[in-house]
Amino acid sequence: MGSKKFKLAVLVSGQGTNLQALIDQIEQEVLAAEISIVISNVKEAFALERAKNHGIKSHFLDRKSYSGKAEFDQALIDLLQAEAVDLICLAGFMRILGKAFINSFAGKIINIHPSLLPAFPGLHPQRQALEHGVKFSGCTVHFVDEGVDSGPIILQSVVPVYDSDDEETLSRRILEQEHDIYPRAVQLLVEDRLTVSERKVTQKKN
Ligand code: GRF
Repeated sequence: MGSKKFKLAVLVSGQGTNLQALIDQIEQEVLAAEISIVISNVKEAFALERAKNHGIKSHFLDRKSYSGKAEFDQALIDLLQAEAVDLICLAGFMRILGKAFINSFAGKIINIHPSLLPAFPGLHPQRQALEHGVKFSGCTVHFVDEGVDSGPIILQSVVPVYDSDDEETLSRRILEQEHDIYPRAVQLLVEDRLTVSERKVTQKKN
């Protein structure tokens, strides 16, 4: 008791199953953190419901209320600074964050992407993987830098791609792995177990 909890913000746009995985691991006391706020840029995102169901503060930030991308990003910065979060987890957040945002939270933003980066960054990575004909794909948790899905890699998990797969079956197989590695990556940060040297992220020994 009394020790300060590691505070997360989770940014979402959709169904929020990765958010749910983080919530579950926190509730099961596997992940030693708390979610201070869930922010969505999509009003109907089911992720907001998940936050409410677990008594977590949630906020819809409407891009249309801001004159430009910079103003929207600044509103997001203000909201997150007010919460004094230790880490920002992008979990299906479908907006590219600008330089000002990245610089405001240097080294404190992570993302999960459903491919084995650097293969298939950007939109529809599962479709890209199927079209390319790879035999394995997977997911990646990485630090966020100014590029698209280009920051230093923290954890990855591999899944096979079957001849019978379509986008839906492959996405489902990958998503299961996402729910495993995202909370694990966050816990590594909670425990301050990561060292980042240029592109390379290594785990400190116990
Ligand atoms: C996941 O596949 C994630 O990797 C990608 O968007 C999807 C979000 O799913 N960035 P959910 O909203 O967490 O269920």
